[in-house]
Amino acid sequence: MAKITYIEAGGAEHVIDVKTGLSVMEGAVKNNVPGIDADCGGACACATCHVYVDEAWLEKTGSPSAMEESMLDFAENIEPNSRLSCQIKVTDALDGLIVRMPESQH
Ligand code: FES
Repeated sequence: MAKITYIEAGGAEHVIDVKTGLSVMEGAVKNNVPGIDADCGGACACATCHVYVDEAWLEKTGSPSAMEESMLDFAENIEPNSRLSCQIKVTDALDGLIVRMPESQH
């Protein structure tokens, strides 16, 4: 279990206990956290689960795969800390993770 803080573009925070093995995207969708659309259901094929990983967590979340990188090109307002949240697997090491959602996923 890892406590993840999801912060909406407007500043609203949602602190959720997410089960190990789920993705950061699934943790949001299953708990009705707004701001992550996840149109493709986690197949790395839509880029509507875009989040910004808090700088302090970049090392622990690792770097995107080549497939994720190319999918990120379809998202708006990409930053160096942009990730597709369906591609970040929740582990105990991510307890305390903070991610921010973009203004819009489209
Ligand atoms: S849910 Fe579609 S790319 Fe992540």
